[in-house]
Amino acid sequence: MVSLSFSPKISSKNLLIAPVFFHKKKLTGIGVKGIDALIEERVKEKDFSGHEGETLARFPERSGMPSEIVFVSLGNGEKLTHAKVLSSLAKALRVAQHHKKQAISIFVPKQMNQFGQAIGETLEMTNYQPAKFKTGKEKSSLAKHAIKTCVLITRDKKLRESVKKGQTIGDTTNDVRDWVNAPPNVATPEFMEEKVREIGKQNGYKVTVLKKKELEKLGMGLLLAVNRGSAKEARLLIYEYRPAGSEKIQPIVLVGKGIIFDSGGYNLKPSGYIENMHLDMAGAAAVAGMGQLLTKLKIKHPVIGVMPITENCIDATATKPSEIVISYSGKTVEITNTDAEGRLVLADAIAYAVKQYKPRYVIDIATLTGACMVALGEQFAGVLGNDRELIKSLKKSGRATDDLLWELPLHPAFSKAMKGEISDLQNSEPGRYAGASKGAAFIKEFIGKAKWAHLDIAGPAYTTMPKAYEQKRATGFGLRLFAHFLEHLK
Ligand code: BES
Ligand code: MN
Ligand code: ZN
Repeated sequence: MVSLSFSPKISSKNLLIAPVFFHKKKLTGIGVKGIDALIEERVKEKDFSGHEGETLARFPERSGMPSEIVFVSLGNGEKLTHAKVLSSLAKALRVAQHHKKQAISIFVPKQMNQFGQAIGETLEMTNYQPAKFKTGKEKSSLAKHAIKTCVLITRDKKLRESVKKGQTIGDTTNDVRDWVNAPPNVATPEFMEEKVREIGKQNGYKVTVLKKKELEKLGMGLLLAVNRGSAKEARLLIYEYRPAGSEKIQPIVLVGKGIIFDSGGYNLKPSGYIENMHLDMAGAAAVAGMGQLLTKLKIKHPVIGVMPITENCIDATATKPSEIVISYSGKTVEITNTDAEGRLVLADAIAYAVKQYKPRYVIDIATLTGACMVALGEQFAGVLGNDRELIKSLKKSGRATDDLLWELPLHPAFSKAMKGEISDLQNSEPGRYAGASKGAAFIKEFIGKAKWAHLDIAGPAYTTMPKAYEQKRATGFGLRLFAHFLEHLK
């Protein structure tokens, strides 16, 4: 984590980030004459138009002044939001990183005082470095582009707590990114089990690990069918967070798709589609990450994290298209496509969790369909479900954290498409339309009467067009959304 300190005075040693506002063509600087003059001059010369997120670096070369100042516009300041601070501040931090400035200061204008958490999150998330497997010279050169220390220029004592909290959330987001970015020979089923056990030990959670024998006994035919072509046993990982005094409250159940690598199975993915399929455990990673945050954020609600973990691979015993399997719920499923494996592992995990934990809400998070990605791109996850209240608050948390959600329809027509010809259900149908809705409609068959929402994060979990506070590859999508949702839940 970035080492943080606070001071009321600007130090000349560090690069200074100076947030400014621009309203009706008028600039509001940081209130330090010599520094504000530098940007006022550039505004006059029309080098700086002040649109939100615009940055400009100045190099004063005057004693007593920082040798570099990065001005960044936060827009008009009146409607400042968490998301705006994330993206504008990140742009300024990118300039500092680019110039290999490892010691920085950030001036905190009073309008930013209530966004301490966003400052902390941005510092950590922007500093994330995905090239974890480099050695030698390249590794040390990458390290030079990371910020090490940050002084916040402020007199507001309350900022300490909120910035630290933001750092904790940002740092955990980076853990999630690490797990998702790790290749499938590193982030193995054993690795995920170890992580969840570790999280349980550190936080005093009850952790349950169901492996092949137990899964067979329970009759989790769908999870086991996906696992059959893998040399490694499937696992159902569960943590239980039950804060003191919450014994009688119904828990929130989070279920994360944990496909360690999705080859497609016998419906093998072609080149161009298979390469990044280690990302297919991003849902489970977000749920595990939330496990790490629950005690730190002192969440008041009981939360159960459920992660069905397996590879989707091929060998002589692997599931063949047309196989009919009995699910944990008892419904029979024809596996018409072995590449629609996510809904299978989720169906068994959710049916089990609903029965076992009688949840107030079930929220599943999954890199479920390419169709969702085609519809919504890399910015938005799809949200579908059977409870308006729940969907509404998830969308609100999405807007607040910039983990954006867009609702897609559930409709009886989609459920009809998932009916089997000679079995209760089929896991895919030949049509090419509304793939995200049909995936959700399949899962819906296993929800029973629970209140449920499904987040399809196939698009935003892994990015080729990173936002300012992201890097290419894993984003950690979902973690900050969950944290916000659970903190604001009544
Ligand atoms: N893991 C994939 C979905 C995916 C695609 C995630 C691209 C991230 C990026 C999922 O298991 C899958 O293969 N879905 C199929 C479903 C189809 C066979 C019904 C798809 O989207 O093509
Ligand atoms: Mn698949
Ligand atoms: Zn998959």
